[in-house]
Amino acid sequence: MVTSSPWWGQSVIYQVYLRSFADGDGDGVGDLAGLRRRLHHLVDLGVDGLWLNPCYPSPQADHGYDIADYRDIDPAYGTLAEFDELLAEVHRHGLKLLLDIVPNHCSVEHAWFRAALRAGPGSRERGRFVFRPGRGPDASLPPNNWQSVFGGPAWTQVADGEWYLHLFSPEQPDFNWDDPEVLAEFDDVLRFWLNRGVDGFRVDVAHGLIKATGLPDWTGSHSYNPHMWNQAGVNAIHQRWRRVLAEYDRDLALVGEVWPPSSSELTRYAGPDRLGQVFYFDLLAQPWSAAAFRAAIERGLRAGGVAHRIAWTLGNHDVHRQVTRLGQPRSPEPVPTPDITLARLGLTPDVGLGQLRARAALLLLLSLPGAVYLYQGEELGLPEVLDLPDEHRQDPIWFRTGGAEKGRDGCRVPLPWTGDGPGLGFTDGGRPWLPQPAWFARYAVSRQREDPASTLSLYRTALPLRAKLFANTALRWGRADRGDVLAVVRDNGVTCMVNFGDDPYPIPAELGEIVLASHSDGPTERDRRLPGNAAAWLRTDSLQSVDMPSTLS
Ligand code: BGC
Repeated sequence: MVTSSPWWGQSVIYQVYLRSFADGDGDGVGDLAGLRRRLHHLVDLGVDGLWLNPCYPSPQADHGYDIADYRDIDPAYGTLAEFDELLAEVHRHGLKLLLDIVPNHCSVEHAWFRAALRAGPGSRERGRFVFRPGRGPDASLPPNNWQSVFGGPAWTQVADGEWYLHLFSPEQPDFNWDDPEVLAEFDDVLRFWLNRGVDGFRVDVAHGLIKATGLPDWTGSHSYNPHMWNQAGVNAIHQRWRRVLAEYDRDLALVGEVWPPSSSELTRYAGPDRLGQVFYFDLLAQPWSAAAFRAAIERGLRAGGVAHRIAWTLGNHDVHRQVTRLGQPRSPEPVPTPDITLARLGLTPDVGLGQLRARAALLLLLSLPGAVYLYQGEELGLPEVLDLPDEHRQDPIWFRTGGAEKGRDGCRVPLPWTGDGPGLGFTDGGRPWLPQPAWFARYAVSRQREDPASTLSLYRTALPLRAKLFANTALRWGRADRGDVLAVVRDNGVTCMVNFGDDPYPIPAELGEIVLASHSDGPTERDRRLPGNAAAWLRTDSLQSVDMPSTLS
């Protein structure tokens, strides 16, 4: 049953990239046992729940986004029984757990795909995927000119000459969502996990399931191929899932990973009878500028319509970490489009500056109405590992582009829990599956826990405060007399002020007391100047004296 203010509407959800979170069995790969042992980290942070990246059986061609069996746990991560125990413990702590469901494609090791290879052209088994004859006199050319997201053609030829479609790597064949068996199968997969008690799903590539009729060539000049994404038919599939969720007498979340060509199109994904909530990725691509952030936030609020339809985020396992992105020298140039290619930027960041800005951006994000998704390690202020030795890289983007693009491994390096010891506390002896650079030790949880000025301490203070200060009230922009200062004002008298500039900004007395500052240098009540690249939360009982020209929602 979905209520008017669902639990997921204002939640802070922590993304657990399982293989890099904590290793419980000493093989160098994170797993459910490790997560369970370190679950108190999430409890201490004050998040409302976690989103678990795919942990189903998988040959790991794309680290779990190539699923061989949707109804089990990969032995490298644990067992179904361990999953059930973890879920029970998560619930005992009052947290929610979202699984990652990957409906666009499976793995070449999935029983259906193996059967399709065996059964041959024209078979019912092939009908569950997108098989086509090739082009050219001997059918040796792909059926169309589509390029895969990870590089190279989106088609691979099999032994009998047919080709199959894969929007991502060849190890990830796309399902044919016009096939009733595929529809029924996913209803059942959702029920399988809902019956175990999960609280919802993050839906991978939710805008990709249906392809343009006839699979026409893409003759346009830009890299976003509209025939592969955002087709009208996808919404009906989400509506069908919503009906499956409605069979359960509890409030369940579906949050979609959707990359439409324009954020205004998010609206048609986010309605209450469909996904209900979508990620808003525009903030990932903004340069550090008050005007750019304000415009992006306004677009997000408009796209969501109702605030709880939007899930704000500054990072995930597909993009460079925000400390590194925001540490770029100030530049009027816009950052390239926020698609998966964001992971391909070559940057020369100022890490210290990036950290200050990322802390300020966190306070801004938390002050917005809607859900907030955090990616593991951001609470430690971890920068991207840009100098990962090439021989350790594992991302299919790295392989598919012949090394031309580094890929996403740099944001997936296992977390540092302690300042020393094997794998910095990540593992009990094994070699972490991606090597941690020596400088990771500085960011260890154990070190930051004791330091009130650390990024971890800021997160641990801000999260519980957010729940108290920013509960469901309308948002307006306060007027600042400097263009590089932004003020989000909520109707209950709470303000988040962000200084995107470098010079201190005096906080007006009318905004009231300082509740929290992103910068350890202040402001303080004695010196109410907000430093550059910093944010503060303020609270007053007499909001009417504050000049607030525009109302947003
Ligand atoms: C996931 C990626 C994954 C891709 C293919 C994305 O949107 O977040 O990590 O590689 O889908 O499943």
